[in-house]
Amino acid sequence: MTKGKISIIGAGSVGSTLAMRVVESGLADVVLLDVAKEMTSGKALDIADASPLVGHERSIIGTDDYAEISSSDVVVITAVFARKPGMTRENLIARNAGIVKDVSGKIKAHAPASILMVVTNPLDSMTYLAYKTCGFKRERVFGMAGVLDGGRFIQLIAEELKVPRSSVKALMLGSHGDTMVPVLSQTTVAGKPLEKSLSKDKIDAIIKRTRERGAEIVSLLGTGSAYYSPSAAAFKMIEAVMKDSKEVMPASAILEGEYELSDIAIGVPARIGRRGIEEIVELKLTAEEKEALSRSAQTIKAAIKLL
Ligand code: NAI
Ligand code: 2OP
Repeated sequence: MTKGKISIIGAGSVGSTLAMRVVESGLADVVLLDVAKEMTSGKALDIADASPLVGHERSIIGTDDYAEISSSDVVVITAVFARKPGMTRENLIARNAGIVKDVSGKIKAHAPASILMVVTNPLDSMTYLAYKTCGFKRERVFGMAGVLDGGRFIQLIAEELKVPRSSVKALMLGSHGDTMVPVLSQTTVAGKPLEKSLSKDKIDAIIKRTRERGAEIVSLLGTGSAYYSPSAAAFKMIEAVMKDSKEVMPASAILEGEYELSDIAIGVPARIGRRGIEEIVELKLTAEEKEALSRSAQTIKAAIKLL
């Protein structure tokens, strides 16, 4: 069995589901860390007890002790403050920024050679904050969102056209929010542009539903937000690192001039491998897509300013 250690900070819905995906795939051992120590230990024991049934030899522990994350290959931040009735969005962002700052500082102290992946929302500004706090090279810090949003887009296109999902290629860039940018020039069905298969109205409706998918799921769940597909998306990015696949996928990356943007974390196509973001791939976007990416960047910059 190859070595491999993933630490996940925050053992809530996304963190624990991701932990299960990682150990059960055999990819790596997992440290699940949360301020709620007993709950985390309970979840880790439960996931461990499934090991002989699923059939793998990976280990998982639940803890609140940062000493356990030392020598991690990847550390994932999913920690978040639970929204309380009456809290404003600004309150919530400030509390989460405090958590992300605190956690990033501890990752810097205890796992200084790791790759840091952020999942906590608001995704792009939290990724930027984590980067600024941990002091890692920008290649070693990124956020997960575009893989999820792209997956949702593909799912809705495949459902509409009744075609295999594997025949649909799509790319979602920009912020993880209302201004996410579907790159239609890169969206194909069986190799043909999407516009050849669907009318503009249908495409617009699918884009709208993709943008609102997180909220659609929240309103159906009653409490909490999506975690099966987010954990699958986070797993895909971790797998690219651990297997050094060099696959190109959207990542919220720190830009230094790419796409004419700097001092920001925003979703762009990135080649992911053992060193983290090994290349930011600069696609030739249409004028409309460039404009949409720049609008999306403005919303992230405004959020960063708030921090
Ligand atoms: P959750 O509420 O189920 O879990 C959060 C966990 O963080 C809790 O167990 C809590 O005890 C823990 N926590 C709080 N403060 C902590 C600290 N200082 N250190 C360690 N742990 C701490 O939340 P869920 O559903 O797992 O979501 C996590 C985050 O991921 C949220 O911000 C959510 O919006 C975001 N998200 C982002 C997605 C993306 O595409 N980037 C997709 C889905 C969720
Ligand atoms: C989602 O898109 C909440 O960001 C989360 O489902």
